[in-house]
Amino acid sequence: MSEAKKLYIKTYGCQMNVYDSERMAEAMGGAGYVKTDSPDDADMILLNTCHIREKAAEKVYSELGRFKGLKDARPDLKIGVAGCVAQAEGEEIMRRQPLVDLVVGPQSYHRLPELEAKARTGKKALDTDFPLEDKFDTLRHRPKAKRGPTAFLTVQEGCDKFCAFCVVPYTRGAEFSRPVDRVIEEARDLVDRGVREITLLGQNVNAYHGQGPDGRDWSLADLVWALDEVDGLERIRFTTSHPNDMDDALIAAHGDCAKLMPYLHLPVQSGSDRILKRMNRSHTAESYLRLIEKIRAARPDILMSGDFIVGFPEETEQDFQDTLDLIEAVNYGYAFSFKYSTRPGTPAAERDQVDEDVKSERLQRLQALLTRQQRAAQDAMVGREVGVLFEKAGRLPGQMVGKSDYLHAVHVTDPTIEPGQLARVEIVESGSNSLAGRCLPR
Ligand code: 5AD
Ligand code: SF4
Repeated sequence: MSEAKKLYIKTYGCQMNVYDSERMAEAMGGAGYVKTDSPDDADMILLNTCHIREKAAEKVYSELGRFKGLKDARPDLKIGVAGCVAQAEGEEIMRRQPLVDLVVGPQSYHRLPELEAKARTGKKALDTDFPLEDKFDTLRHRPKAKRGPTAFLTVQEGCDKFCAFCVVPYTRGAEFSRPVDRVIEEARDLVDRGVREITLLGQNVNAYHGQGPDGRDWSLADLVWALDEVDGLERIRFTTSHPNDMDDALIAAHGDCAKLMPYLHLPVQSGSDRILKRMNRSHTAESYLRLIEKIRAARPDILMSGDFIVGFPEETEQDFQDTLDLIEAVNYGYAFSFKYSTRPGTPAAERDQVDEDVKSERLQRLQALLTRQQRAAQDAMVGREVGVLFEKAGRLPGQMVGKSDYLHAVHVTDPTIEPGQLARVEIVESGSNSLAGRCLPR
C-alpha cells in the first residue's frame, strides 16, 4: 500500500469555516490524504480563508508568500486557497500568487479531489461555481472517526439580507436550508462518534426553513425540538441569528427546551437608527431592545452576545453615543466589535468614510464598556451552580476544562472527570479568562 499523503489546512474566520475545513479534510480522505498539523511535511496545503474584513484577506497573501521556500524545496507540494477570499478573488489570487495551484469556493469544495487531481497534472485548477448539486449530499458518507465532545453542524448557509457593509451575500450566495432529516442524520452520526454538544451554524441560522419530513418547511424552533429527541445529545446551541428572524416559537424554546443553552448571539451592529437604516438592517434600536425583553422574559438568565461595527460611513459622535446607550441598556455577557472595513463591491464602500483614528478611538471606548460588562457577567457566576461539559485536560495535573451552559471556560481539579462528561459545578472563583469550580455530587 502506498503511504498516505498529508494535508495541512489552516482555517481563518468564522465557525462555518471550521466546519467546512473538517469536511474538506474528509473529502480529501477519500483521495488518500490524512491531516497533518504542520505545513513542513505536507503534500498539500490548503488555506480556508475569510473575506469579511480587509485585514483577513491580506493575511492570506502574506501567508502564501511564506510557503515559497517549501514549494521551492518540494515542487510536488500543491497549494490551494479555499473559502470566501477564493470565492471573491479566485482569478486575482492565481494572477497575484503563482505559488497557488488550486482555488475552490465555499460552495464547490466537494469537488476538491478532482481539482487536486487536475493540479497534479501540472494545470491550474479553479472552481468558484455555485453548483446545482448539494455539496452536503456528496459528502454524506463520512469516515466514522471519533470526535471530541463538541461539534459544529451547518444547517443553513448564505444570506439574502444584504447589509450594506457585508460581503457574505456575495461570497456565500443566497440563503439555503438543509432538509431536516439530513440534519438529524448528521447529528446522530456525530453523537455516535462521541459528540455531546452541537452548535447549529448558519449565516442567518434563525432564518432556517428546511424541508421537514412532512413536506412542509420547518423553522429553527421545529429543528431544535427535533434535535431535543436525539438520545445522547445533551446540548444545543445555534449561531448567528438576525434580530428580524427571532420568531416567538424560537424565543419560547429558550424557556422550554432544556437542551437549548442559555446563550444567544444576536448581532445589532449599531444603536443608532440613522446608521441602522443606512446599514440596511431593517430593524431599529428600539425594536431590538423590545426583542431582548421578550427573550429575557422567556429565559431570564440568558447571556446575550453581540457584534458591533464602529465608524460605519457617516457615523457621527451622536450615532456612536447611541450605540453605547444601547449597550448599557442590553448589558452583554459577550461581544465582538470591529472597525468598519471597506469591502469592494458592497454599497457602503462608496460612501463618505470615517477617519481611521476616529474609528480607533471609538473602538477603544466601545470595547472598554463591553469588557466591563463581560467581566461583570463572568464575576456574577461565582457562587452559582452551572452545568459544565468537560472537553479536555487542563495545564495543571488533575485539571479538566470545559464550557459552562453560558459558554464560560470553567476548570476544576478533579481526577474522576473525563472528557465528554457533563457535570454540575459550583463556581468558586472568577479568573482573568476563565472560572474555577468544584464538581457537585450527582
Ligand atoms: N467591516 C467591519 N465589520 C464587519 N462585519 C461584517 N462586515 C464587516 C465590515 N465590512 C462584522 C459584523 C458581522 C461580523 C461577523 O463581522 O459585525 O456581524
Ligand atoms: Fe452579512 Fe447582514 Fe447577512 Fe449578517 S445579515 S451575513 S451581516 S448581510
